[in-house]
Amino acid sequence: MDAAVSPRDRAGRTVLERAIALARHSDSPEHYTRTLFTPAHRAAARQVAEWMRAAGMAVRVDAIGNVIGRYEAAEGAGSRAILLGSHFDSVRNGGKYDGVLGILVPIACAAELHARGERLAHAVEVIAFSDEEGARFQTSFLSSRALAGRFDPAVLARRDADGVSLEAAMREVGLDPAAVESARIDPAGVAAYVEVHIEQGPVLLREGLALGIVTTIAGGTRNTVRVRGEAGHAGTVPMAMRHDALAAAAEMVLAVEGRCAAGGSLVGTVGILHVKDGTGNVIPGDVELSVDIRAAEDAVREAAEHDVFEHFEAIARRRGVSLERTRTHHVHAVPCAPWLQDRLAESVRRAGVEPRRLPSGAGHDAMIMAEVCDVGMLFVRCGAGGVSHNPAETVTAEDCGLAVEALLDFLRRL
Ligand code: GLV
Ligand code: MN
Ligand code: MN
Repeated sequence: MDAAVSPRDRAGRTVLERAIALARHSDSPEHYTRTLFTPAHRAAARQVAEWMRAAGMAVRVDAIGNVIGRYEAAEGAGSRAILLGSHFDSVRNGGKYDGVLGILVPIACAAELHARGERLAHAVEVIAFSDEEGARFQTSFLSSRALAGRFDPAVLARRDADGVSLEAAMREVGLDPAAVESARIDPAGVAAYVEVHIEQGPVLLREGLALGIVTTIAGGTRNTVRVRGEAGHAGTVPMAMRHDALAAAAEMVLAVEGRCAAGGSLVGTVGILHVKDGTGNVIPGDVELSVDIRAAEDAVREAAEHDVFEHFEAIARRRGVSLERTRTHHVHAVPCAPWLQDRLAESVRRAGVEPRRLPSGAGHDAMIMAEVCDVGMLFVRCGAGGVSHNPAETVTAEDCGLAVEALLDFLRRL
């Protein structure tokens, strides 16, 4: 071991190396994509469990595939736990740190406590959530919902791109779809939930700060919209006689962009645009698109959502196409508990970083955990211009080390 390396730097390097190593467990050989219950996802779960055990934690896997490690309190079993966690699934072709950082930084804290034989007033439970992004079954916060007792059994029927249902995928990895309810945790045993996460934006980078404290997490909705027009021959149907579902969808994409460009925290995105049976010489007759709208204030988002879908109806009427809309996701904006913000800010300051408070535009498991207990979030600076949900996403070992130091200080002072 290099004696010149400080414990903070050593912990930061370990976090970074582990994030890179974990990303090798990918569904794709070309890029980092890890979706629920694939072989890569299972391998990542085993690796996380191994790191938890090495940090002196007792490990269990719950009914939805979350890997949970517990580092017992000084007073032993029966003590309340501070929950620390995030997700280990990813978006397609995503960044290596989104989610994973919120598992590896807490494991590094537990490892440090374990190495010193130190026990705290609270137990420390690290939760590696199996599915937050929901890329495989178009779910969202699937695993934290199960923990909060908010699992919707209807999602078991959802199918992936190959037609495999969530229910079948669970059985394949040895989980019982009828037992998900048992993943629910008892709020009485929980002191709070804190999530460490890469910022996924440019604020901390721009301001030269390694860490930040989250004030609010923006609420959001996701809808799937199906546009049905009339398929036809690309060479024979005159332009004025067409009911082109894709041309209508294209107008809708621009309607989302136009309405959500008003400024502030309001944002709108169409991330999926699927032309069914798309062929170069066929007028598109059936198109599906996703519409994701978010804002820090629920009223702002709701107003935008109302206007966007009213505009969609007008486009559909004018073009003679039909619309079908399914809301697949909805979360209200969630405030982080002021007392946790203050405690985190104190520990960030003690790590030598000016405590900057900022809202989160991205969604996090903390939003669902807020139904169980008070939640707080610690952001780690995102490199590469603040880009995320992108393979270019980066963090530095130094910033990871500071995150370990601040979180450990927070845990010790709780
Ligand atoms: C989670 O990554 C989100 O969609 O905000
Ligand atoms: Mn993400
Ligand atoms: Mn995330």
